[in-house]
Amino acid sequence: MTRYDDVVSVLKNLAVFSSQGSRAATAQPWIGHNPLSDSLVMLDPPQHTAIRSVVSHAFSARVLPRVEPLARAAAAAFAERAANGLEVDICDELATTLPAKVIANLLGMDDTLVDEFRTWSEDIVAVNPMTPEAARPRIIASIADLTRYVEGVFEDRKHARRDDLASDLLDAQVDGRRLDDAELVSFMFLLLVAGFETTTHLLTNSLRLLAAHPDLLARLRRDPTAIVPFVEETLRLEPSVHAALRLAMEDTEVGGVRLPAGAVVCALVDSANRDETRFEDAERFDIDRERRPNVAFGHGIHFCLGAALARAEARIALEEIVPRVGAIHVTQEPTWNTSLTIRGAMSCRIRFEPL
Ligand code: HEM
Repeated sequence: MTRYDDVVSVLKNLAVFSSQGSRAATAQPWIGHNPLSDSLVMLDPPQHTAIRSVVSHAFSARVLPRVEPLARAAAAAFAERAANGLEVDICDELATTLPAKVIANLLGMDDTLVDEFRTWSEDIVAVNPMTPEAARPRIIASIADLTRYVEGVFEDRKHARRDDLASDLLDAQVDGRRLDDAELVSFMFLLLVAGFETTTHLLTNSLRLLAAHPDLLARLRRDPTAIVPFVEETLRLEPSVHAALRLAMEDTEVGGVRLPAGAVVCALVDSANRDETRFEDAERFDIDRERRPNVAFGHGIHFCLGAALARAEARIALEEIVPRVGAIHVTQEPTWNTSLTIRGAMSCRIRFEPL
């Protein structure tokens, strides 16, 4: 599905389109058990409704206030370096380290394990029906390592609660229902994959777009309130999740196209966000455009749980970097990942000039 209205109608129509479509892509027979395949984003009601209410309560209560100072400190430390002139692969630096610190702190994981988080997350999103044979052993090892690591975190918190989401999740309950061990592990898998790599791509994309629009860099420096619409427009034009998958549960029709029961439907978020019937001059990066909702964070019951967090991380990073640097150049174009659903740079060299 490439058009905005069709993408929204698929994501809205829970009676016909099941999130088992995503599971079909991640539950490959060669993996054995992949906890991501049982995670919230792959579930339909009523299981989805019950688990989302447990985790969203634990999640929303604590996220922003505790994460903001941490994100700002990481962004400020990077901005100090950039202010003196710096050329780096941004994917090895701020774009990875800031979200890694945030997610580690939130989940109660060790934030010195940034490299491991990155490897685990990149490997887990690389699972799809076309994953080459040569890449499979590494992916299987990453799933086993992350499972062991997360189980260890919960084991530890069972004996001694801390001020983190892992502890909250152990205690969280709605209508007398708590998460079982498998649900706890699969939610941590989802948060690591959904919350880390997507935000890395948002940060990289923001900086690439600033490099491509030097006039906007000057404007954001003069008027920091323009950073919020800048981030929104980055999400519209370059969404980190470029597709949501669904499974048609019965014969149906969308946008005049007949779909048989069992068809896997790929709702193309990035295409919907550039639909010229919804967004005027849709290919143009325009932070002053009329704000109409887009589907960067999905639509309906699976709407991204971390949308406010991702937006805050990008805003904070730009608030720290923009006033301190003179110009931003992409010196080496990105190399792109190969995930079916997440789209972003694996590497991208950027030069920051002093003011
Ligand atoms: C779901 C995008 C960051 C946690 C989703 C979905 C999209 C999305 C499109 C819906 C998928 C579907 O319907 O199949 C993004 C983007 C991000 C981002 C573009 C950053 C730029 C985050 C962060 C977190 C997070 C930072 C948490 C730390 C989740 C969770 C879900 C989800 C838990 C599943 C919700 C459910 O199934 O009810 N995200 N996300 N995301 N996201 Fe995000």
